Amino acid sequence: MAILKIARMGHAVLRKAADPVEDPTATSIRGLVADMLETLADAGGVGLAAPQVHIPLRLMIFFVPDTRVELPEDPDDSAQDMTVLVNPGYEPLSEETSLGWEACLSVPGLTGAVPRYTRIRYWGTGLDGSRIERRASGFHARVFQHEYDHLDGVLYPQRLNDPSLFGFAEEIRRDPPSLRPG
Ligand code: NI
Repeated sequence: MAILKIARMGHAVLRKAADPVEDPTATSIRGLVADMLETLADAGGVGLAAPQVHIPLRLMIFFVPDTRVELPEDPDDSAQDMTVLVNPGYEPLSEETSLGWEACLSVPGLTGAVPRYTRIRYWGTGLDGSRIERRASGFHARVFQHEYDHLDGVLYPQRLNDPSLFGFAEEIRRDPPSLRPG
């Protein structure tokens, strides 16, 4: 196990589409995920995609802490244990989008309000080769879409629809601008 170096915005590995993983059950993939889990625990985020640790493969890890649930009445926006998804995909379940604050370990210190699909269905392969498929909404849907974007070389600042809703997290936390619906 090792704590890996996290690539920052501007690095070429964050700007290109990642390659599919040929064998999700390979020992090398298991080792990479172990290192990503350790790296995420050390850095203190909720998700990490392989390109962020300089590995251009379609693989992500994330979890949803119960403190981040936005739609408590919606079973698709519930707390999620650490999830490993290899070669993931998703589709929106409606055109509705929501605006919410995001941060990224590759864009340290900053935060921005990003529109994301409110409800999605996503899928992928687990490390044991099993298929994972879930519906997600609210923060659960947001964190998936954020991590998925990394696999296509997209960082959240590219998704801002209002650049005035972007800045240093320390400053924005003092007096957050209110968000209109996505
Ligand atoms: Ni990120």
